[in-house]
Amino acid sequence: MTIHRTLLVAALVALGLEAQTLREEADRLGMLVGGAVDPELFGQAAYANAFATQLNMLEPENDMKFGVIHPSPTTYNFSPGDQIVAFAQTNGQKVRGHNLVWYQQIAPWVTGGNYTASQLNQILHDHITTVVSHYAGQVFAWDVVNEAMSDSPPALRSEVWYDSPGIGFAGQGTKYIEQAFVWARAADPNALLFYNDYGADVVNAKSNAIYAMAQDFRARGVPLDGIGLQMHLSLSSDLSQLGPNIQRYIALGLQVHITELDVQIPVKANGTPVNPGDLQKQATLYQAALSTCLRYKGCTAFQTWGLTDKYSWIPGYTNGVDGLALPLDANYQPKPAFNAMITAYQNAAVLNAPATGGISVISATGGTGLLAPGGLISIYGSGLGNASSVLVTDSSGTSRMATLLYVSATQVNCMLPADLLPGPAMLSVNGGDSPVSVATRTETVAPGLFTADGTGQGMAAAITVDSGGTTYLELFGTGIRGRSDIANVHVTVGGVAAPVLYAGPQGQFYGLDQINVVLPASLIGTGSVNIEVEVDGRVSNVVQVVI
Ligand code: G3I
Repeated sequence: MTIHRTLLVAALVALGLEAQTLREEADRLGMLVGGAVDPELFGQAAYANAFATQLNMLEPENDMKFGVIHPSPTTYNFSPGDQIVAFAQTNGQKVRGHNLVWYQQIAPWVTGGNYTASQLNQILHDHITTVVSHYAGQVFAWDVVNEAMSDSPPALRSEVWYDSPGIGFAGQGTKYIEQAFVWARAADPNALLFYNDYGADVVNAKSNAIYAMAQDFRARGVPLDGIGLQMHLSLSSDLSQLGPNIQRYIALGLQVHITELDVQIPVKANGTPVNPGDLQKQATLYQAALSTCLRYKGCTAFQTWGLTDKYSWIPGYTNGVDGLALPLDANYQPKPAFNAMITAYQNAAVLNAPATGGISVISATGGTGLLAPGGLISIYGSGLGNASSVLVTDSSGTSRMATLLYVSATQVNCMLPADLLPGPAMLSVNGGDSPVSVATRTETVAPGLFTADGTGQGMAAAITVDSGGTTYLELFGTGIRGRSDIANVHVTVGGVAAPVLYAGPQGQFYGLDQINVVLPASLIGTGSVNIEVEVDGRVSNVVQVVI
């Protein structure tokens, strides 16, 4: 027991599970967390401090765009971009370049110059070559081409670089995009090259068109390394198809960066939310976006378009109708969205915790990304063939055996004890040549009630009459103890609140939890009723009982 407690403490310290900045959380997972930045604001201590401490990656919001960095045919204005690079180097941060080819913020001398296609070809070649060479070794990834695809129906935008008059490939589809990637690769062979767009975050018609381009580029060896998903969201955004979109790019061997995330919400004239609950809804979207990214090893960077509500493009863009789109408020205080990001990182630590010994990966088979008390897990590693036990030590320091289901040289499947406390935990696979351990976390996703038929939705609960004549129900399940005291356990039977008499360990069967409730007299004899349990705001499956 003592050795496992020592291991747990050491690993938690090493992992910094108490970390509370986005940067610490992302560093722990080897992830990039970034923000769009304006170097004119570095003089403000609060701004500079937030960008230095919360982020490990910066991207110029405007300062590397053509119109800013190349204001006349023979002038390059590298100063603002260089300030960002210097700030990043001082603070040990990476810089992401944005952008080389875009139909907006082009210098007026280009758009108004009546250049021929071959002159524009030379101009864009020289621009890409000069800018990428200047930042070689300082900018690790570039949005080479930004927003080339129009919305509906998705098609290449008619614009100066494509066909108005274009750089010589008008009407030849994505060839001008391909050319830009080739020039960028030649200027800095070490920079990662991205195509970046908005409104194509989930699987939809626009992302299908971008995917087809990416697939074609990969097949033909065009130097494309990744796809940027901008993710300018509103509260009606549906992220259910974000994961499949990320997954299909990764399957092509590409990286995915979330590049410009913000979630705009309606605001009053005084800048407060029209609906106070919207900040929580916003947080839910932040958590969903980040958790989804963290599920894929190829989704390597998560960036917001700014960091504080003090500076964001949204209020200007929406004439003040929407705002409050970022994780920190205007006073640099964490919003629910910030806390949701921290939670997403901490939950992901379950799957990505650096291993000691031979364990390399742990995954929860339920697909939630959480190791849940009572849940099935797979442990991957090497030299596991002789494993004879998996010991789980939870945050109280108590160790329990998981039930082994499958053992091979590279994988052990087991069922976690049902009565683990939520929070940091240590898994230790014994029985090999020496124990191998990994720090992780367990979280009770939701209380689970057992049913007689194993569906989770069927008949459940025993009806008992006690010696005093009170009729009560005994419910059995998981995820009740350790989350809550009895005051936070609420049970409804047929929609009627049922007073809770007991909530905790079942006592007879190891690991099982039990809740006893008084059966509301008004329901007796009404037939089949639904029962639902809420523990600390987490709702169980619905079971039935005939009364
Ligand atoms: O720098 C000039 C300043 O000198 C001048 O006095 C002032 C007067 O309007 O304009 C300033 O330039 C503005 C610039 O932001 C810097 O503040 C531009 O007018 C303004 O159009 C520009 O807006 C930027 C916009 O891109 C340009 O289209 C936003 O800040 C920036 O957040 C936004 O970022 C884009 C990404 O690059 C691509 N994806 C969408 C995203 C949001 O639109």
